[in-house]
Amino acid sequence: MNLSHRLSTIPASPIRKLIPFAEQAKKQGVTVYRLNIGDPDIKTPEVMLTVLRQWDISTISYAQSKGDPEFLSALAWYYQRCGYPFITEHHIQVTSGGSEAIGMAMVAVCNPGDSLLVFEPFYANYQSIALLYDVRLVPIQTSLKNGFHLPDRSTIERYIDETTKGILLCNPNNPTGTVYRKDELTMLVSLAKDRDLFLLSDEVYREFVYDGRTHVSLLSYANELPEQIIVLDSVSKRYSLCGARLGALISINKELLDGVLRIAQGRLSSGFVDQKMAAKLVNVPDSYMQRVREEYEQRRNVVYEGLRSINGVGIHKPEGAFYTVVSLPVENAEMFCQWLLTDFRLEQETVMLAPANGFYLSEGKGKNEVRLAYVLEIPKLKRAIQILAKALDAW
Ligand SMILES: Cc1ncc(COP(=O)(O)O)c(C=O)c1O
Repeated sequence: MNLSHRLSTIPASPIRKLIPFAEQAKKQGVTVYRLNIGDPDIKTPEVMLTVLRQWDISTISYAQSKGDPEFLSALAWYYQRCGYPFITEHHIQVTSGGSEAIGMAMVAVCNPGDSLLVFEPFYANYQSIALLYDVRLVPIQTSLKNGFHLPDRSTIERYIDETTKGILLCNPNNPTGTVYRKDELTMLVSLAKDRDLFLLSDEVYREFVYDGRTHVSLLSYANELPEQIIVLDSVSKRYSLCGARLGALISINKELLDGVLRIAQGRLSSGFVDQKMAAKLVNVPDSYMQRVREEYEQRRNVVYEGLRSINGVGIHKPEGAFYTVVSLPVENAEMFCQWLLTDFRLEQETVMLAPANGFYLSEGKGKNEVRLAYVLEIPKLKRAIQILAKALDAW
C-alpha cells in the first residue's frame, strides 16, 4: 500500500527520538536525568485536583465546541487580570492544548503553500504542524551570541515574499529561553502593520520570566492591529496540566474566530472533565504562580552557573521559560546525546539532552548545540550538570 508523501515528511520529535536509548539504559539499571523534555514536575494546583477527587457527574459528555462556559469565563477572567480588560469569552476559542491552537491559527491564515516566518531555532512541533496543513515555515536565524534576540527589521523584511502571510513567534521562547523586549515586539507590530502580516504569538510560558522582567504580550497591541494579532496559549505549563490537553486561541478578529469555531465544531470539543478541572484557575492563589516562578528562576540560576563553569560550553543567560540552547565542544551533538545514553555512565548515572538540530530548519544549523529543559529539582539538576561535565571530558 502506498502511504502519502506527506506522511514521510513529518519529522520525529527531536525531544522524543532518543527515548528508546533512554529506556534501554533504564533497563540496565542506569539512572537517566531527563533534561530533554519540558514536562513540569511541579504539583498541579490542589483546587484543580480536588475537582477530580470529588467528581460526581455521571455522564462524561461533550463540552461545547467553543469551550465549556465555566472554563471560557475563567480564561476571560485570567486575561482581564493580566491587563487586557477588553478580552471576553467572545474572543477566546478553547483548544485541545496550545498545539491545536497553533494548527487552527495556521489553517485560519494560510492557504496551502503560503508561508510563515519563524525565528530559528524554534519549537520543533511548529514544523510538524505546518507540514500537516501544507504551510511553509521560513526560518530567520537568531544567534546564541546575542541571546537569540530578534534581528533588525530590514533583515526580517528580506525574507518576506508574495507567499508570506505572517510571523509565528514564541515569547518567552522555547527552546532558547529568550524573552523579547518591548522594542522588539513594537518593531514586529509595525512591520506587520506596514506589510499586512498576521502575527501568531505563542505565549504558553507567559508567567515564566526572570530577573524582574515583565512579559509583553501581543495582546497589548490587539487594539492597534485588531485583525492581525492571534495569541496562542495553554494551561499545560502554567498549572502543570500538560496531560489535561487544554489551550486557547485568542483574537479580537471576529471573522477569524467564527472560522476557527467552525474548525472546532469539526472536532466536536475539548475534554469536558479537563475543562471543569482547569476552570478552577480562578481559585488558584497568586502565591502558587509566584512560587513556581521562583522555583524555575532558581533552577535557571543553577543551570546557568553550572554550565558556564564547563570549559567550551557556549551559553547565554536564559531570561524566561524553562529551556536553554547551549553549544557544546563537540562536532555532532546528536551523536554525543545518543552516546550519553548508550555508553557513558558516571556511577551508573547519565543525562538525556535534546540535540538542537531538530529545532532548526536551515541545513547544518545547531549541529553542536543541545536544548536543556530545567524541569528537575535543584539537587538533581546539579548532579546532571556534573555528569555532563564529566561526559564532555570523556568524549
Ligand atoms: C512553545 C510551545 N508552544 C506550544 C506547546 C504546546 O503545548 P500544549 O499542547 O501542551 O498546550 C508547547 C509544549 O511544549 C510549547 O513548548
